[in-house]
Amino acid sequence: MIRDAQTDDAVEIAALLKPYVDKKILLHRSLEEIRENAPQTVVFVEAGRILGSSSLVFFSPTLCEIRALVITEAAQGRGIGKDLVLAAEAKALRQQSARPIRFFALTYTPQFFERCGYERTTKDKFPEKIYEVCNFCLRKDDCHEIAVQKQVE
Ligand SMILES: CC(C)(COP(=O)(O)OP(=O)(O)OC[C@H]1O[C@@H](n2cnc3c(N)ncnc32)[C@H](O)[C@@H]1OP(=O)(O)O)[C@@H](O)C(=O)NCCC(=O)NCCS
Repeated sequence: MIRDAQTDDAVEIAALLKPYVDKKILLHRSLEEIRENAPQTVVFVEAGRILGSSSLVFFSPTLCEIRALVITEAAQGRGIGKDLVLAAEAKALRQQSARPIRFFALTYTPQFFERCGYERTTKDKFPEKIYEVCNFCLRKDDCHEIAVQKQVE
Protein backbone atom coordinates (compact mmCIF):
# COMPACT_ATOMS: atom_id res chain seq x y z
CA MET A 1 0.00 0.00 0.00
CA ILE A 2 1.25 3.47 -0.85
CA ARG A 3 0.18 6.30 1.44
CA ASP A 4 1.26 9.81 2.37
CA ALA A 5 3.97 9.85 5.02
CA GLN A 6 3.36 11.19 8.52
CA THR A 7 5.83 12.90 10.80
CA ASP A 8 5.86 9.74 12.97
CA ASP A 9 7.36 7.82 10.02
CA ALA A 10 10.59 9.83 10.14
CA VAL A 11 12.64 7.33 12.17
CA GLU A 12 11.70 4.45 9.86
CA ILE A 13 12.43 6.53 6.75
CA ALA A 14 15.82 7.57 8.18
CA ALA A 15 16.62 3.87 8.76
CA LEU A 16 15.78 3.11 5.12
CA LEU A 17 18.06 5.89 3.91
CA LYS A 18 21.00 5.09 6.21
CA PRO A 19 22.67 2.19 4.29
CA TYR A 20 22.65 4.30 1.12
CA VAL A 21 23.83 7.42 2.93
CA ASP A 22 26.72 5.33 4.33
CA LYS A 23 27.53 4.17 0.79
CA LYS A 24 27.33 7.82 -0.37
CA ILE A 25 24.54 6.97 -2.83
CA LEU A 26 22.07 9.26 -1.05
CA LEU A 27 22.65 12.48 0.86
CA HIS A 28 22.17 12.55 4.62
CA ARG A 29 18.81 13.95 5.77
CA SER A 30 18.35 14.90 9.40
CA LEU A 31 15.33 13.55 11.30
CA GLU A 32 14.06 17.11 11.49
CA GLU A 33 14.31 17.49 7.72
CA ILE A 34 12.55 14.16 7.14
CA ARG A 35 9.78 15.15 9.58
CA GLU A 36 9.36 18.56 7.94
CA ASN A 37 9.19 16.97 4.49
CA ALA A 38 6.72 14.24 5.53
CA PRO A 39 3.74 16.06 3.95
CA GLN A 40 5.66 15.92 0.65
CA THR A 41 6.61 12.25 0.97
CA VAL A 42 4.94 8.99 0.00
CA VAL A 43 5.75 5.61 1.54
CA PHE A 44 5.14 2.00 0.60
CA VAL A 45 3.92 -0.04 3.57
CA GLU A 46 3.63 -3.82 3.87
CA ALA A 47 2.75 -5.76 7.00
CA GLY A 48 3.00 -2.56 9.02
CA ARG A 49 6.54 -1.78 7.89
CA ILE A 50 7.72 1.00 5.61
CA LEU A 51 9.69 -0.62 2.78
CA GLY A 52 10.13 2.40 0.53
CA SER A 53 9.91 6.15 0.44
CA SER A 54 10.05 9.03 -2.05
CA SER A 55 9.84 12.79 -1.53
CA LEU A 56 8.87 15.77 -3.64
CA VAL A 57 10.53 19.16 -3.62
CA PHE A 58 9.01 21.96 -5.68
CA PHE A 59 11.39 24.63 -6.91
CA SER A 60 8.54 26.41 -8.72
CA PRO A 61 4.93 25.49 -9.54
CA THR A 62 6.22 23.72 -12.67
CA LEU A 63 9.56 22.28 -11.52
CA CYS A 64 9.57 19.41 -9.05
CA GLU A 65 12.40 17.17 -7.87
CA ILE A 66 11.91 13.50 -6.95
CA ARG A 67 14.25 13.23 -3.98
CA ALA A 68 15.40 10.66 -1.41
CA LEU A 69 13.89 7.72 -3.25
CA VAL A 70 14.75 4.48 -1.49
CA ILE A 71 13.50 0.90 -1.33
CA THR A 72 14.86 -1.43 1.32
CA GLU A 73 17.24 -3.94 -0.27
CA ALA A 74 15.07 -7.00 0.39
CA ALA A 75 12.11 -5.42 -1.42
CA GLN A 76 13.95 -4.17 -4.49
CA GLY A 77 13.02 -5.50 -7.93
CA ARG A 78 9.29 -5.80 -7.18
CA GLY A 79 8.17 -2.63 -8.94
CA ILE A 80 7.83 -0.66 -5.70
CA GLY A 81 10.32 2.01 -6.75
CA LYS A 82 8.46 2.67 -9.99
CA ASP A 83 5.10 2.76 -8.17
CA LEU A 84 6.50 5.25 -5.64
CA VAL A 85 7.85 7.55 -8.37
CA LEU A 86 4.46 7.49 -10.11
CA ALA A 87 2.67 8.08 -6.78
CA ALA A 88 4.97 11.02 -6.00
CA GLU A 89 4.30 12.50 -9.44
CA ALA A 90 0.53 12.05 -8.98
CA LYS A 91 0.74 13.79 -5.60
CA ALA A 92 2.59 16.71 -7.19
CA LEU A 93 0.05 16.95 -10.02
CA ARG A 94 -2.76 17.13 -7.44
CA GLN A 95 -0.99 19.98 -5.65
CA GLN A 96 -0.29 22.19 -8.67
CA SER A 97 -2.62 23.06 -11.51
CA ALA A 98 0.07 24.71 -13.66
CA ARG A 99 1.16 22.56 -16.62
CA PRO A 100 3.40 21.19 -17.89
CA ILE A 101 5.28 20.12 -14.77
CA ARG A 102 8.90 19.13 -15.24
CA PHE A 103 9.98 16.39 -12.85
CA PHE A 104 13.67 15.75 -12.35
CA ALA A 105 16.06 13.72 -10.24
CA LEU A 106 19.80 13.59 -9.70
CA THR A 107 20.74 9.94 -9.49
CA TYR A 108 23.33 7.18 -9.84
CA THR A 109 20.66 4.91 -11.35
CA PRO A 110 19.43 6.74 -14.46
CA GLN A 111 18.43 3.37 -15.98
CA PHE A 112 15.78 2.97 -13.28
CA PHE A 113 14.35 6.43 -14.01
CA GLU A 114 14.36 5.69 -17.75
CA ARG A 115 12.06 2.76 -16.94
CA CYS A 116 9.79 5.34 -15.26
CA GLY A 117 9.63 7.48 -18.42
CA TYR A 118 12.49 9.90 -17.65
CA GLU A 119 15.22 10.90 -20.06
CA ARG A 120 18.80 11.82 -19.32
CA THR A 121 19.70 15.48 -19.36
CA THR A 122 22.30 17.77 -17.80
CA LYS A 123 22.34 19.41 -14.37
CA ASP A 124 22.64 22.88 -15.87
CA LYS A 125 18.98 22.56 -16.92
CA PHE A 126 18.11 23.01 -13.23
CA PRO A 127 19.80 26.23 -12.10
CA GLU A 128 17.25 26.52 -9.28
CA LYS A 129 18.58 23.28 -7.76
CA ILE A 130 22.21 24.32 -8.29
CA TYR A 131 21.76 27.76 -6.71
CA GLU A 132 19.53 26.67 -3.83
CA VAL A 133 20.94 23.24 -2.94
CA CYS A 134 23.99 21.97 -4.84
CA ASN A 135 26.13 25.02 -4.09
CA PHE A 136 25.83 24.20 -0.38
CA CYS A 137 26.53 20.47 -0.76
CA LEU A 138 29.79 19.07 0.65
CA ARG A 139 30.12 16.95 -2.49
CA LYS A 140 29.58 19.78 -4.95
CA ASP A 141 33.08 19.54 -6.43
CA ASP A 142 32.94 15.76 -6.70
CA CYS A 143 29.37 15.05 -7.80
CA HIS A 144 28.82 12.31 -10.37
CA GLU A 145 25.05 12.21 -10.18
CA ILE A 146 23.23 12.13 -13.49
CA ALA A 147 20.25 14.38 -14.15
CA VAL A 148 17.05 12.86 -15.51
CA GLN A 149 13.79 14.60 -16.34
CA LYS A 150 10.23 13.93 -17.41
CA GLN A 151 7.65 16.47 -18.54
CA VAL A 152 3.99 15.87 -17.72
CA GLU A 153 1.39 17.92 -19.63
C1 LIG B 1 16.87 2.48 -7.51
C2 LIG B 1 15.72 1.90 -6.68
C3 LIG B 1 14.87 3.04 -6.14
C4 LIG B 1 14.86 1.03 -7.62
O1 LIG B 1 13.73 0.53 -6.89
P1 LIG B 1 13.10 -0.89 -7.19
O2 LIG B 1 11.84 -1.02 -6.45
O3 LIG B 1 14.14 -1.94 -7.00
O4 LIG B 1 12.83 -0.77 -8.77
P2 LIG B 1 11.57 -1.38 -9.57
O5 LIG B 1 11.42 -2.82 -9.19
O6 LIG B 1 10.40 -0.49 -9.43
O7 LIG B 1 12.11 -1.30 -11.06
C5 LIG B 1 11.43 -0.59 -12.10
C6 LIG B 1 12.20 -0.83 -13.40
O8 LIG B 1 13.52 -0.27 -13.27
C7 LIG B 1 14.51 -1.28 -13.49
N1 LIG B 1 15.59 -1.06 -12.52
C8 LIG B 1 15.50 -1.00 -11.18
N2 LIG B 1 16.71 -0.74 -10.62
C9 LIG B 1 17.58 -0.67 -11.66
C10 LIG B 1 18.98 -0.45 -11.74
N3 LIG B 1 19.73 -0.26 -10.65
N4 LIG B 1 19.55 -0.42 -12.96
C11 LIG B 1 18.81 -0.62 -14.09
N5 LIG B 1 17.46 -0.82 -14.07
C12 LIG B 1 16.86 -0.85 -12.87
C13 LIG B 1 13.79 -2.60 -13.22
O9 LIG B 1 14.41 -3.66 -13.90
C14 LIG B 1 12.40 -2.31 -13.72
O10 LIG B 1 12.38 -2.44 -15.11
P3 LIG B 1 11.03 -2.86 -15.93
O11 LIG B 1 10.15 -1.64 -15.90
O12 LIG B 1 11.53 -3.21 -17.26
O13 LIG B 1 10.43 -4.02 -15.18
C15 LIG B 1 16.22 0.98 -5.54
O14 LIG B 1 17.09 0.01 -6.07
C16 LIG B 1 16.94 1.72 -4.42
O15 LIG B 1 16.32 2.15 -3.45
N6 LIG B 1 18.28 1.86 -4.52
C17 LIG B 1 19.08 2.49 -3.49
C18 LIG B 1 18.85 3.98 -3.39
C19 LIG B 1 18.89 4.68 -4.74
O16 LIG B 1 19.76 4.45 -5.58
N7 LIG B 1 17.90 5.58 -4.95
C20 LIG B 1 17.74 6.33 -6.18
C21 LIG B 1 18.51 7.57 -6.06
S1 LIG B 1 17.58 8.99 -6.57
